Amino acid sequence: MQARDGDFINPLTSKESIEVGKAISQGALRDFRALKPAAGEEMIHRYELYNNDHAQHILESLCRVVHVTDFQLADVKSPSRFEYVNQYADDRRFSGLVPGYRPQEFLIYSMVHELVRTLNRFPNSELSDREIDLVLTTGDLIDNAQSNEFSWVMALLGGGTIEIPSGSDEMELVSDQYFGSYAYWQPEGDKDSYKERFGFPRVDGLLRNALRPIVSDGLKMPWLGCNGNHEILTQGVGRVSSSLQELAVGQSKSVDIGAIGEGSLYEEFIEDPTLFYLSGVQRDISPDEGRVHVGVDGVIAAYLNAPGLPKGHGFTDWNVENHVAYFAYDLNDKVRIVTLDTAVPSGDEEGAIDESQFLWLEEKLKESSSRYFEDGKLVANSVGIDRYIVITSHHPLFKMNNSFRDARDTEVTKERLSDLLHRFPNVILWLSGHTHVNRVMPSQSPYDPRFGFFEVTTVSIMDWPSQFRVVELFSGDSHLEVHLEMGNIDVPVQSTEVESSADLASWHRTVAYNTSLLVPKHFVGEHRDRNVVLHLNKRH
Ligand SMILES: [Fe+2]
Repeated sequence: MQARDGDFINPLTSKESIEVGKAISQGALRDFRALKPAAGEEMIHRYELYNNDHAQHILESLCRVVHVTDFQLADVKSPSRFEYVNQYADDRRFSGLVPGYRPQEFLIYSMVHELVRTLNRFPNSELSDREIDLVLTTGDLIDNAQSNEFSWVMALLGGGTIEIPSGSDEMELVSDQYFGSYAYWQPEGDKDSYKERFGFPRVDGLLRNALRPIVSDGLKMPWLGCNGNHEILTQGVGRVSSSLQELAVGQSKSVDIGAIGEGSLYEEFIEDPTLFYLSGVQRDISPDEGRVHVGVDGVIAAYLNAPGLPKGHGFTDWNVENHVAYFAYDLNDKVRIVTLDTAVPSGDEEGAIDESQFLWLEEKLKESSSRYFEDGKLVANSVGIDRYIVITSHHPLFKMNNSFRDARDTEVTKERLSDLLHRFPNVILWLSGHTHVNRVMPSQSPYDPRFGFFEVTTVSIMDWPSQFRVVELFSGDSHLEVHLEMGNIDVPVQSTEVESSADLASWHRTVAYNTSLLVPKHFVGEHRDRNVVLHLNKRH
């Protein structure tokens, strides 16, 4: 194991952040840049949901959790992937299907491995000396709904060995010469469009070392699961069918799409993704039964069988019996976590919940509330035991627009879901992923302006800046404080080596940064979306 030294970034962004450094190599359109350390980011105080003039004093830490999301850990050789769509990023017919490929994706195994190591040695809270109580995940931990991807993530998080790549040791992937395409970054090749246009470097050994087996100790603290669209839909969008399963475990892979019409391909892909994996030119690939798709029951089973604590990682036999991937978890006598399943098996990357989950959620909120709003009035609930409630889900509220749900489901609109949560003043926080963008947004209660909750989305591990969020909840004499701080995976800021797992993870972050310059998303958000102290009125 590589020793930590001065080259490693501090895991706390309040101590040290990362900024762009010198050019490593030149391209025709832009240079490929190194990263370098920068000063830490200050905490910003936000008072949108606080209206009390009393002096504030923190009395007690109620919990300290880490939120990690969207690893999108991929079987990079899978025949049920369509990396080629990136070549059509400017073609409106492919809208919603891009990206199908990221240059850093073969480095994600090392990145998740180093995430686990970072959390295991993470410093205690400076305010409370509290350790991390729990790690909350919010879905898209895998990329393509495959059971081999899931077994790799469970071994990295729970402890175990992962054998990559799939199928065979042959380098049958777009990041190597096998596909012969100029369109992908091939770090150990001489010539490709990323090198020529964007200055991506040749890095000998990077690809081969990234695909060596990895032995993970697993997280030393409890961690919870969550379902996401990439867990149950091919490429996070397309409906899984028996013909897709057959193709996924087969031995040929499309390198381009065949003839296509003039209209949008997004809905076609939802209905029948196999068209995209069977058309155009095919290449042989080593088959692997592990590429079978996991399904909701498979997600539940994978968490129930994963090593580590708590057993099932939030899922129980109740989930197995009812075929549903949502649960409530009481972290302690002060805090309840309610984890929703917003992924929709009938397709579309957008989220939704159905009527039965809506009714279940109402019950779980009542259990943790001694009072709540009914017909606009605050009513007592003698059986409710007050706990602060943290909602977790893959999709944030504004991404709950799924229009392809099963016809049997009753519509649960965003407005109905938001209204339900606001009926319960003990709901103070909603943590989600999916967008790969940092945002912290107040949502004031329509029933009483003193109440409401913050909606918090957090960046992915796959894309820049590959960070996570540390969340500590404090109770004060007259208020609550939620401290949110982004965390760095503590590997070298900029490695020149390719030997250790930390080196490979460092390269992941640098490649992800340079890739982020090619897409129009502002992943990191504004300062108010990252390191903040949220002030709220007390609820009970
Ligand atoms: Fe997602």
